[in-house]
Amino acid sequence: MKEIVNPVQIDYLAFLRNEKDELTLEMEKFAKEHKVPILNWNAAQLLLFLIQSKRPKRVLEIGTAIGYSSILAAKVLRKKSVLHTIEKSRDNIKLAGEYIKRAQLADKIKIIEGDALKIMPELKKKYDFIFLDADKQDYEKLFEHSIPLLKRNGILFIDNLLWHGCVAYKRIPAKEKKSTDIIRNFNRLFMESKLLKSAIFPIGDGVGIGIKL
Ligand SMILES: C[S@@+](CC[C@H](N)C(=O)[O-])C[C@H]1O[C@@H](n2cnc3c(N)ncnc32)[C@H](O)[C@@H]1O
Repeated sequence: MKEIVNPVQIDYLAFLRNEKDELTLEMEKFAKEHKVPILNWNAAQLLLFLIQSKRPKRVLEIGTAIGYSSILAAKVLRKKSVLHTIEKSRDNIKLAGEYIKRAQLADKIKIIEGDALKIMPELKKKYDFIFLDADKQDYEKLFEHSIPLLKRNGILFIDNLLWHGCVAYKRIPAKEKKSTDIIRNFNRLFMESKLLKSAIFPIGDGVGIGIKL
């Protein structure tokens, strides 16, 4: 279980993709070679379209990894907008810092180092856009911390809600059982929330989008 959409259609979309930015392609190659999970390129396009149409002043990302989605998002932000991104892995913080410098986006992206579970309750100012992309077992708590940090009409964008397609199957590989159950429970919570208008889309690994009511 890997692709949630027929691979033939994915290959077709990849063929049409016209990505020319060398750093973006280099980061995708690095992530693939080093098995760093980053946002699927097609889901990233959706993220960027939403950011470009919403024109947020303040964006919060939970889970920086090597800075792939942070850099893509920061590139389409308006001049005075900022992106704060929380990361707990020292190795990833170092790699992300280097890539962000190379992208010349150090003035727009601030890496907040540490565990989002501890950091988020201490953040004071609200955000117009939050991208949740951290450890799946933390999703429920991180979701709870995200809601009060999101402005009214703000957008919450969440990755991996179809979990390689597993959430939709009756029989799943034993090694995916725990994560699948976590995501299934989270999806119910997300879709039933009275605090958001929410939907899940079959793009990338499954993207949840919520609008704060
Ligand atoms: C899927 S990757 C993020 C990918 C990134 N958003 C991208 O698309 O380029 C998840 C990252 O979140 C970090 N992470 C997971 N749980 C976290 C937490 N509770 N606090 C801070 N970082 C966390 C991991 O160390 C990992 O680097």
